[in-house]
Amino acid sequence: MIEKMRKGFRGLNGGLFEKSAKADVGSSYTKLAQDGVDLMGWADPFTPDRSIPQNVLDKAIEVLNGPLSTHYTAPSGNEELKEIIAEKLSNFNGLNVDPSRNILITPGSDSGLFYAIFPFIEEGDKVLIPSPSYPNNFGDVSLAGGVPISVLLKEENGYQIDINDLEKAVSEKTKMVIITHPNNPTTTVYNRNSLVGLCDFVIRHDLILVCDQAFEDITFENEMITPAALPGMFERTITTFSVSKGMGLSGFRVGYNVTNDLFMDKLLAAAVNILGATSTMAQIACIEAFKDLSFIDNFREVFDRRRKVAYEIINSIPNVHMLMPESGFLAWVDVSKLGTSKEIYEYLIKEAKVAVNDGSFYGDGGQGHLRIVLGIYRDDEKVYDCLRRIKEALIKFQENKTA
Ligand SMILES: Cc1ncc(COP(=O)(O)O)c(C=O)c1O
Repeated sequence: MIEKMRKGFRGLNGGLFEKSAKADVGSSYTKLAQDGVDLMGWADPFTPDRSIPQNVLDKAIEVLNGPLSTHYTAPSGNEELKEIIAEKLSNFNGLNVDPSRNILITPGSDSGLFYAIFPFIEEGDKVLIPSPSYPNNFGDVSLAGGVPISVLLKEENGYQIDINDLEKAVSEKTKMVIITHPNNPTTTVYNRNSLVGLCDFVIRHDLILVCDQAFEDITFENEMITPAALPGMFERTITTFSVSKGMGLSGFRVGYNVTNDLFMDKLLAAAVNILGATSTMAQIACIEAFKDLSFIDNFREVFDRRRKVAYEIINSIPNVHMLMPESGFLAWVDVSKLGTSKEIYEYLIKEAKVAVNDGSFYGDGGQGHLRIVLGIYRDDEKVYDCLRRIKEALIKFQENKTA
């Protein structure tokens, strides 16, 4: 019977018949916590501790106590939320949009990302994905029937986009480029050179750009540029945003897609078929969060501190290294001199009692790497303790190999 399913679904492993090592598939990953393993593989700020600002919590409770929360919002989203998001898009992203025409609220940005890709990708369409990159970029394209094509980002280029590599990969069948910006897992904030080159490439080859900016709120040294705001790009870009990462509101399941009238008209028409509507309570609480985004400054301070400590600890392990994270709360660690990423991932669960992510899930360039989420727990010391345990285990691993 399985052959009756779409091709993109048939080969998937949801964890029912075979254990999946993907942190976000099935429940085997969360079960590790019951065995005393610390989970550094879910990109969810301060999990499992509290991350919500008091005023946002108060608003959520107020909505729950009132009549609205158990009723639908229109599939397009709460109008007041869209208005305040439009202000943020103007101030932060350099995008001046009409809130009622160019913003669609989505139940988280995973569905938003799929809904940015799916309307364009038909059987056999090719999609270029600079990678390592967010696994859903590959998965979403395959589910839609398209063919994801990895375009390798190189560490020696600071994981910036090399347009020559995109030129080598493009063909008549190419319809789209997807970028995660800042990138997950490498944390790269694409610089002006990368983005101007990318936009010129996208326009020259008459492609669509999907840009996932779920991690945009917290960047460090580098300027955060929104490609949709560059000349000629708004008419061919769908940008996906989220309140999960920078604002630490992942459990609210709120994201938003931003695009031009032409594309948005279709997205609005089919939103009820594909997305339904986003939680009424969560949307109203998010209005409160957008009113004063200064709480993100505290998140930034914490993550800045942690990335510097991680950089010291990880780079003090012989034969292991990482670049300084440029955004958010992830570390992308090269363990290729020790073994495969699966081998090291499994070893760390057993020896260090820490579950990170096997880098091979992040596409080309992911093998031999681990993704470590530095953003877990409220308490810095707990994070540092996990990192020290990783260090001890990786040193022991090498000693055992040479013994
Ligand atoms: C790059 C990226 N985009 C989108 C998402 C989805 O986030 P959410 O659905 O919580 O908005 C994630 C979550 O891990 C992510 O890492």
